[in-house]
Amino acid sequence: MMIMSIFISLSFYIKKIKDMLGTTIKDKIYNLPLRVKFILSFFLVIIAGGVVTLFFGTRLEHRTIISMAQDKVKHDLDSAWMVYNEKLKDIEDIVSMSSKMSFIKNAFLKHDFNNIKSSLKKIKSEYKFDILTIIDAEGLVLLRTSETGIKGDDQSNDPLIKKALEGKTVKAAEIISRNELLKEGKDIADRAHMTVIKTAKAAPLSYKVEENGMVLKAASPIIDENQNVIGVLYGAILLNRNYEIVDQVKDIVFKGEKYKGREIGTVTIFQHDLRISTNVMDKDGLRAIGTSVSQEVKNAVLIEGNHWIDRAFVVDDWYITAYEPIKNYQGSIIGILYVGMLEKPYIDLRNNVMLTFTIMAAIFVIILLGILFFITSTIIKPLNSMVIATNKIAQGDLDHKVNIDQGDELGQLAKSFNKMTKNLNIANKKLVQWGKTLEKRVEERSKKLKDMQDTLVQSEKMASLGRLAAGIAHEINNPLTSILINSHLIREKTDSKSPIFENLNLITEETERCSNIVKGLLDFSRLNPQEKQFADINDVITTTLNILKNQAAFQNTHITTFLSNNLPPLEIDKDKIKQVFLNLMINSAEAMPDGGQLTVRSMLSEDNKYIKVEFADTGIGIPEKYLNKLFDPFFTTKSGGTGLGLAISFGIINQHKGNIKVKSKPSQGSTFTISLPVPD
Ligand SMILES: Nc1ncnc2c1ncn2[C@@H]1O[C@H](COP(=O)(O)OP(=O)(O)OP(=O)(O)O)[C@@H](O)[C@H]1O
Ligand SMILES: [Mg+2]
Repeated sequence: MMIMSIFISLSFYIKKIKDMLGTTIKDKIYNLPLRVKFILSFFLVIIAGGVVTLFFGTRLEHRTIISMAQDKVKHDLDSAWMVYNEKLKDIEDIVSMSSKMSFIKNAFLKHDFNNIKSSLKKIKSEYKFDILTIIDAEGLVLLRTSETGIKGDDQSNDPLIKKALEGKTVKAAEIISRNELLKEGKDIADRAHMTVIKTAKAAPLSYKVEENGMVLKAASPIIDENQNVIGVLYGAILLNRNYEIVDQVKDIVFKGEKYKGREIGTVTIFQHDLRISTNVMDKDGLRAIGTSVSQEVKNAVLIEGNHWIDRAFVVDDWYITAYEPIKNYQGSIIGILYVGMLEKPYIDLRNNVMLTFTIMAAIFVIILLGILFFITSTIIKPLNSMVIATNKIAQGDLDHKVNIDQGDELGQLAKSFNKMTKNLNIANKKLVQWGKTLEKRVEERSKKLKDMQDTLVQSEKMASLGRLAAGIAHEINNPLTSILINSHLIREKTDSKSPIFENLNLITEETERCSNIVKGLLDFSRLNPQEKQFADINDVITTTLNILKNQAAFQNTHITTFLSNNLPPLEIDKDKIKQVFLNLMINSAEAMPDGGQLTVRSMLSEDNKYIKVEFADTGIGIPEKYLNKLFDPFFTTKSGGTGLGLAISFGIINQHKGNIKVKSKPSQGSTFTISLPVPD
């Protein structure tokens, strides 16, 4: 349940922080460079860790140092008690010893105490007693060693005296009133007299002047031969303004150690809550007697009777202190014994340790940041070069490579990246190549399509021309035949010397010419029968060339042949094909009136389905506008030409299921190519 509620409140606060940050700051953080983000996050982690460690470390260290100091101060208080008790024991021993001295007993026997006064005074001064007094068995003072000489007063109510009268030697600390002190002398009473001095943090006091005194006191019975208590000898040392005990403790325990000119150790005896004997100094460097204990120590030690081991504000500074109550013979708390050590050396020690720790932590953080900087460089640098590479590639530089020679994931990424770029480059080149091929193919196809279309149009045109020519030839052929027969008959019957003989001769010749034209038209319109047989095309070419070689028209023409060997035989009408070859070669010769080169080639087509025969001349060439009219019957550019040569050739080749094509450019010559199908 608790974890759940912590989780819910945590997520609530995270959401709140997010809302507070707002989108702009969030965006700013997101847009920070990678290196800054890395270092920032590591830095935050380190700082957070450092702060936590520093916090708990200093607390722990503080506790350790302070508890060490407290242990020491507790031990020192024990030492102080030893000195205190030793002193009390000394008083007891001296009083006890003295009480047994015979001169005292003799004085009792003689009832004369004046003679022993000087002896007792000697003891008193030798052992630095402030009080040394003899009382009788009733408790009445018989002799005071003080100058006052007051006697006869009753001391039987004093608890120590009471016990001593019962025959016991006792000792204890006691509070003595000013009246009692005055009996011992004004100087002693004045030593006890103290005006209360206010200090910071001291418990407020209800009185302004302390007149009573605190003594270490011992009382011992004086016993006669019959073992009866005939009197009591008691002695005491007034602790007020007596620094013997406190200084002795300080010398034994602290050995006069100082810190920055101040005594480290201090010892105090309190009468109730008032300093009556101390080596704690005030601002003026005087012993701080008359000052009082702090309220919290007063409550703990004086009122509740506990000991106090903790820091406390003493007069004007903080001390690590130990306080324990001083009790009187009846066990009532009448004062405090205190030992304290200046806290400053320990605080300074703690601060020094903390400072060292902080400096070390800072050095550690700086070193860590350096390492971090180096590590992030190994990540950021390759990433940057990757970013540059991607930009270059995005701009089309597919040959760019990332140079990261690392064996880690980034290195692998770079390798994969380079591989990817390489593949991309290859794919791109292929694509470009493919694009070009596609373009070429489209071009080729388009050309083929256009050729086919042209062929179709041409065939269509030729077919209709053929039909027209066939119709005319058929109609003209019969009358022409009878004209020719009759003109022959009339000429035979006419004398050659007759004036009409020449006319008849002309009629006959012209009619024959007409007959040839009709024959040509019939060839063109494919109406003439064929006599097909298997033949070697190279033979047909050679035969035709032999006929032409000696013709006058070919005198200036240089003929070259490239005839392919092993051509398959063709099923052709040899004479008609010969006629086609003749037509083409004559045309070439006519196109080269001043001489030129005629090249004749025969070859098998790439798909082996046709044999091609090519006639290429270096003649005048054909203007483009004539190219689609060449095969029309009667198309001619020559004055004496009939324009039937190519038309007849076209008809013959068509009858052989072949085709005839021309390529020509004016003044660059012309090439006519005939394709004839190879029989299956
Ligand atoms: N090799 C060639 N070089 C240049 N022009 C040519 C060539 N072959 C044919 N021609 C052109 O084609 C026309 C038609 O040729 P075609 O052989 O049908 O008739 P012709 O040669 O003019 O007359 P004919 O063949 O009846 O003597 C020619 O008039 C000529 O203009
Ligand atoms: Mg011709």
